[in-house]
Amino acid sequence: MKPFFSLVDVLLVLVFFSHVTWAVNGTSHCKQTDSRVIRPHSVSITEFGAVGDGVTINTIAFQNAIFYLNSFADKGGAKLFVPAGRWLTGSFDLISHLTLWLDKDAVILGSKNSDDWPVVDPLPSYGRGRELPGGRHQSLIFGRNLTDVIITGDNGTIDGQGSVWWNWFRSKTLKYTRPHLVELMNSTSVVISNLTFLNSPFWTIHPVYCSHVIVQNVTILAPLDSPNTDGIDPDSSDDVCIEDCYISTGDDLIAVKSGWDEYGISFARPSANITIHRLTGHNRNGSGIAIGSEMSGGVSEVYAENLYFFNSSTAIIIKTARGRGGYVRNICISNVTLVGVDTAIRFNSNFSQHPDEFYDPNALPVIERITVKDVIGENIKVAGLLKGIEGDIFHHICLLNVALNVTSDPWNCSYIQGYSALVSPETCEPLKESIYPNHSLDCFHLSNHLWSSGNQNRGSWLLSSPSPR
Ligand SMILES: *[C@@H]1O[C@H](CO)[C@@H](O)[C@H](O)[C@H]1NC(C)=O
Ligand SMILES: *[C@@H]1O[C@H](CO)[C@@H](O)[C@H](O)[C@H]1NC(C)=O
Ligand SMILES: *[C@@H]1O[C@H](CO)[C@@H](O)[C@H](O)[C@H]1NC(C)=O
Ligand SMILES: *[C@@H]1O[C@H](CO)[C@@H](O)[C@H](O)[C@H]1NC(C)=O
Ligand SMILES: *[C@@H]1O[C@H](CO)[C@@H](O)[C@H](O)[C@H]1NC(C)=O
Ligand SMILES: *[C@@H]1O[C@H](CO)[C@@H](O)[C@H](O)[C@H]1NC(C)=O
Ligand SMILES: *[C@@H]1O[C@H](CO)[C@@H](O)[C@H](O)[C@H]1NC(C)=O
Ligand SMILES: *[C@@H]1O[C@H](CO)[C@@H](O)[C@H](O)[C@H]1NC(C)=O
Ligand SMILES: *[C@@H]1O[C@H](CO)[C@@H](O)[C@H](O)[C@H]1NC(C)=O
Ligand SMILES: *[C@@H]1O[C@H](CO)[C@@H](O)[C@H](O)[C@H]1NC(C)=O
Ligand SMILES: *[C@@H]1O[C@H](CO)[C@@H](O)[C@H](O)[C@H]1NC(C)=O
Ligand SMILES: *[C@@H]1O[C@H](CO)[C@@H](O)[C@H](O)[C@H]1NC(C)=O
Repeated sequence: MKPFFSLVDVLLVLVFFSHVTWAVNGTSHCKQTDSRVIRPHSVSITEFGAVGDGVTINTIAFQNAIFYLNSFADKGGAKLFVPAGRWLTGSFDLISHLTLWLDKDAVILGSKNSDDWPVVDPLPSYGRGRELPGGRHQSLIFGRNLTDVIITGDNGTIDGQGSVWWNWFRSKTLKYTRPHLVELMNSTSVVISNLTFLNSPFWTIHPVYCSHVIVQNVTILAPLDSPNTDGIDPDSSDDVCIEDCYISTGDDLIAVKSGWDEYGISFARPSANITIHRLTGHNRNGSGIAIGSEMSGGVSEVYAENLYFFNSSTAIIIKTARGRGGYVRNICISNVTLVGVDTAIRFNSNFSQHPDEFYDPNALPVIERITVKDVIGENIKVAGLLKGIEGDIFHHICLLNVALNVTSDPWNCSYIQGYSALVSPETCEPLKESIYPNHSLDCFHLSNHLWSSGNQNRGSWLLSSPSPR
């Protein structure tokens, strides 16, 4: 069979497109949404009696301001301005066509009283709270059924003061699942940008059942030992673009999810078309980019590139288990730089937390077409711990141009199948078949990405490689 292109074609294309290939600069890849309009109306939270002394509770002021601004929703929307100060508050709800704008030195502080975080229904795709049965505390900043919402500013801060929640979690005194810092549910055209998020009680930014979400240029920080303080968790959401973020937390920096076991399977809302560019960060008990472990509604079309993770436990992980069902397919992660990472790439297929005993152990996840390419790493303990499921092989796994300086184990693989090229240390047996020339089409996004980004290494490899068989 004739390969779909010849080596000569590739070289010609590389020559003709090289000016494009190397013209990479810091411009945005996230498609701008219509929601960046200047709002014709603006009020300051101080006009509603808020006091920025860090002590006065301002929940009513936020609620009243947003209630007032609702009358401008059909007039181009409105902006709620939060000036410098420390604005203590409980949970409040956003509305459509709203910009929440935090000035430099403005800090929204989450109340340390759990009564200020009301208990709401569990998500239908989880069937219960993620850590405890029943409801869950509402996020500090919450929105539901919205469109055109912007949370932004001049690097103002939203601080969840999560340490009280972490202590309740550790002492097992919580009655309900901990709240997120920001949750948008069933919303479209959401922008979260130019802000700092600190100390979330639980996951930090949680878009769930959303479309067209941009998270850009945010800093997310929580102590490295804080429990479950994920950075950004797109969950059963599509068209999500995350760019230019710095995240350092106690758990996964970004985790793409889609519901939990039988509840996620029956809700059946996948996460798809998730784009991640220019992410930097570290963690001690989590990963840089995770898919799962809740992936029962399916996850596909995840593109992540230009990633830098340092002093971290795991860089890239797919977490799943028997009982999850669903799928993870068509994932391409490229241009990754790692320094001081315990495990570079991991498939953990026995993530055995289940919502209840009614999950179906025969619901097996389908994991396929996962490409990881252009990775360089130093001071890596384990290159890859890639475990599929007996009777449910994870297939079309492709590794291309991966160079890791490994101090402990190279690759440990079971129940996986795929291809590789230019991997050091030498990859494991199930991935040894070469990508080129026969399997580039089996690898997600290699064929169309061939001349799109970060190709310096592949270019020189093609030049120096022997002719295709
Ligand atoms: C980025 O590159 C594009 C295409 O080469 C160019 O048009 C644009 O001006 C550059 N932007 C910056 C900020 O350098
Ligand atoms: C989602 O929001 C839209 C309006 O924005 C509403 O019509 C729809 O019923 C909502 N769906 C759910 C499941 O909440
Ligand atoms: C969102 O839409 C759903 C479905 O239409 C409805 O049940 C729910 O009350 C709405 N919630 C809000 C806050 O508008
Ligand atoms: C990032 O946000 C800061 C303020 O937080 C702003 O000064 C800077 O221009 C932003 N950068 C980009 C690329 O948007
Ligand atoms: C925003 O503030 C955070 C925390 O103070 C800081 O680490 C970060 O560098 C700032 N970002 C910008 C773009 O100024
Ligand atoms: C972030 O701030 C910069 C500088 O003020 C601005 O140019 C940019 O549009 C902002 N980005 C977003 C997504 O709001
Ligand atoms: C993927 O999402 C981006 C926004 O992040 C959007 O611009 C693009 O059209 C989407 N692509 C598809 C195929 O849906
Ligand atoms: C690391 O995370 C796992 C799973 O979330 C948890 O069980 C474990 O206690 C954490 N370890 C540390 C040292 O925090
Ligand atoms: C990473 O950890 C090493 C060893 O603990 C330390 O020397 C180094 O400063 C850390 N790097 C960063 C960027 O924090
Ligand atoms: C999966 O995890 C469970 C509980 O931790 C353990 O009992 C079981 O042996 C593990 N199965 C495999 C295949 O590793
Ligand atoms: C990996 O180790 C080799 C030999 O020890 C060294 O030459 C090379 O520079 C190292 N590469 C990285 C990326 O640290
Ligand atoms: C690869 O990612 C790094 C950031 O980790 C960035 O500096 C570099 O420009 C990227 N390379 C390409 C070719 O995009």
